[in-house]
Amino acid sequence: MFENLIINNATNHRVSKSFNRADNDKKVYIETYGCQMNFSDTEIILSVMSKFGYNEVMDINDADVVFLNTCSIRENAENRIYSRLRHLNKFKKLNPNKIIGILGCMAERLKKDLIENEKIVDIIVGPDEYRKIPLMIENIIETGEKGIAVKLSKVETYDDIVPIRKEGITAWISVMRGCDKFCTFCVVPFTRGRERSRKIESIIDEAKHLFDEKIKEITLLGQNVNSFNDNGRDFADLLKLVATAVPQMRIRYMTSHPYDCSRKLLNTMAEHDNICKYLHLPVQSGSERILKLMNRLYTIEQYMDVLDYARKIMPGIGLSTDIIAGFPSETQDDHQMTLDLIKNVGYDGAYMFAYSPRENTKAYRLDDNIPSEIKQKRLEEIIELQREISSFKNKKMNGKTLKILIESVSKKSPDFFLGRTDCNKSVILPKSNLQTGDIVLAKILKSNSATLFAQERE
Ligand code: 5AD
Ligand code: SF4
Repeated sequence: MFENLIINNATNHRVSKSFNRADNDKKVYIETYGCQMNFSDTEIILSVMSKFGYNEVMDINDADVVFLNTCSIRENAENRIYSRLRHLNKFKKLNPNKIIGILGCMAERLKKDLIENEKIVDIIVGPDEYRKIPLMIENIIETGEKGIAVKLSKVETYDDIVPIRKEGITAWISVMRGCDKFCTFCVVPFTRGRERSRKIESIIDEAKHLFDEKIKEITLLGQNVNSFNDNGRDFADLLKLVATAVPQMRIRYMTSHPYDCSRKLLNTMAEHDNICKYLHLPVQSGSERILKLMNRLYTIEQYMDVLDYARKIMPGIGLSTDIIAGFPSETQDDHQMTLDLIKNVGYDGAYMFAYSPRENTKAYRLDDNIPSEIKQKRLEEIIELQREISSFKNKKMNGKTLKILIESVSKKSPDFFLGRTDCNKSVILPKSNLQTGDIVLAKILKSNSATLFAQERE
């Protein structure tokens, strides 16, 4: 029985729970940082490793091979990895035969630096070369030669690899890789390469297989799912086909770029009961001038048009966004426009960041001229405003009866479950006779900015 991926609160990253195969005797430990794409990639890496006889272990001390699956999106993400590597220094000195690998986005970006300056690193493997990992390990064991494989591919989608997933009732399906949008602040096109999509048929097979495995909800994943293209069939076509193939499953997707979030896609969401009414649509800034500098390809008017249409055909749809505070040259007026937009839209939630210059990107060549105290102050204002809006919106749910999918035991109390509404709100409710995977009607009793608290309806 394979089971993996749980939150490790102590270190605030996720490690996979161990899986066992009697014939396997080698052990791999993996820590995953960053976005859902990385967590989904970890499931692919575990699958590649299992074919070569590697079991996953939870305790680093039991491992023959230690991997960090890394993220480069902002400087502090990379700093966390460097600080983790410093910790691993001692571990490697005590266990010189254990192999340490850096995988994912930092591998591509910092290969030279990591091999030259971080002496404990044995192999470095970028996001498109995971199939090579087992042979690279064999090579280092036989020859002691360190290995680097960081070439980006125009075709690799790992279409044929069945990921080893966490135990649970939800699953991710990665449907495309890479990004061609080249937002000027973003390192993803450089670390993950060009866009490429999987075949629709293989995605549908995977969804059906997950349904047979009692998975209740799938999230179709991609850096920019709207660019999905399988021989002219777009993401709306994919979504419709998946929704029809597994009508009893809930379906979500992320992330969408506002530029190509089409009416056809929104209509498809509205037409299928099992596609969750939730849209994550990163706006990044409320200022047209800053959006141009970011190469975001839409105006605020066009962005609002998409949201207005989504709300018109799906009243009550959950909306969230990403915001960057302190992009180069952002004035107080630009910042105010972002605050106004956030107020105007009334998002249910937001992921909010201070701008972090990334090498290779176009914005890196601009003067990072917003002092960090001002970036931080603006970020805090945005966070505080969004918190108030989320609280207000959640309060409006009080007294309502909503359909909730029970996902897992609450981390705060073993007597409660954590569930999720169709529009992606987290709900805590007493366990009573419920089980994970149940869909129940529950009355919302109270709420805060992050969570609803509910009671199952008799
Ligand atoms: N600085 C700050 N935030 C960034 N993001 C991407 N690149 C940067 C950066 N250089 C944010 C964007 C994106 C989310 C995934 O991360 O808001 O939508
Ligand atoms: Fe980065 Fe923009 Fe691509 Fe999103 S759409 S991954 S922000 S380049």
